[in-house]
Amino acid sequence: MEFDEEKLREYCANPPEDVSLSDIDLGRIPRHISIIMDGNGRWAQARGLDRSKGHVAGVESLRETVTSCVRLGVDNLSVYAFSTENWKRPQQEVNLLMHLFGTTLLKELPLFHQENVRLRFLGDIEALPEATYQVFEEGLRETQGNTGMTFALAVNYGSRAEITRAARLLAQDVADGGLRPEDVDADAIQSRLYTAGMPDPELLIRTSGELRLSNYLLWQLAYTEFYVTKTLWPDFDRWELLRAIRSFQGRNRRFGGVASK
Ligand code: IPE
Ligand code: IPE
Ligand code: MG
Repeated sequence: MEFDEEKLREYCANPPEDVSLSDIDLGRIPRHISIIMDGNGRWAQARGLDRSKGHVAGVESLRETVTSCVRLGVDNLSVYAFSTENWKRPQQEVNLLMHLFGTTLLKELPLFHQENVRLRFLGDIEALPEATYQVFEEGLRETQGNTGMTFALAVNYGSRAEITRAARLLAQDVADGGLRPEDVDADAIQSRLYTAGMPDPELLIRTSGELRLSNYLLWQLAYTEFYVTKTLWPDFDRWELLRAIRSFQGRNRRFGGVASK
C-alpha cells in the first residue's frame, strides 16, 4: 500500500537505542499483521490497579498501533480483542470491555476517517450487547467507503466457532443444491470464514509472553510467522512493532518448500 515516507520518518524520529526505522526494509512490510493483545490485567495488577485500568491503558496502545500500521503502509491489521471464551470472566469485567469497545470505537471514528481506515469485524458481533452492536454497525457503515488500511477487530471471536460456522454454511449450500460436495475445497471454506477476502496474516504478534493461540485464527495462521514479546499490551508501542517487523524480515519463509537464499 502507498505510504508517505516523510510522514513515517517524522513519526519514527527519536528511536530507542536498539531499534530504528533504518532496520526495516520498507519494501517488505507484511501485508497483514495480526496481534493477540494480551497482558492488560497483569499490567494493571503490577501497578496495584484494577484490571479495568489495564484495558483502558490498552486502548492507547491500540490507537498507536493503528497509526503505526497506517504510517508503515500495512494493508491489513487485525487484532484479537475478545474471545468466545472471554465471557467466562467476571461479569463486571465483561461489561467494562463491552462498554469500552463501543465508546472507543465511536470516539475513534474521526481517526479512522483521517487515516482512511476501513473497519471490519471478525466474530459473532450480533450476540454482543445491543449498544455495542449498534456502534459496531455504525462504524462499519461510516468507514466502508474508506480505501486505506483495513482494520479488523476480533470481538466474540473464536476460531473453532468460525470454522464450525463455515462448515454449517457449506452444509446448508449443499442441502439447498447450490453446491456439490466435490466443490468443497479450501477456497470454499476460506470464503465462509469471517476473514473472507483478507490475505492470511504474514506476521502474528502476541504480547505478554504467552506461547499459545487461545483459539485465534487457527485456519489463517497456517504459515504465519510468530513473534512473541514479553512486553504487556499497554506497554506496546511503535518501537515494539518495528522490532517485530525486523524479526519477521529476518525469517526464511519456506511454506513447506526448500530454503531460498
Ligand atoms: C488482554 O488482556 C485483553 C483481553 C483478553 C480482553 P488480559 O485481560 O487477558 O490480561 P492478562 O492476560 O490477564 O494479563
Ligand atoms: C486471548 O487472551 C484473547 C484476547 C487477547 C482477546 P486470553 O488472555 O483470553 O487468553 P488465555 O486465557 O491466556 O489463553
Ligand atoms: Mg490474557
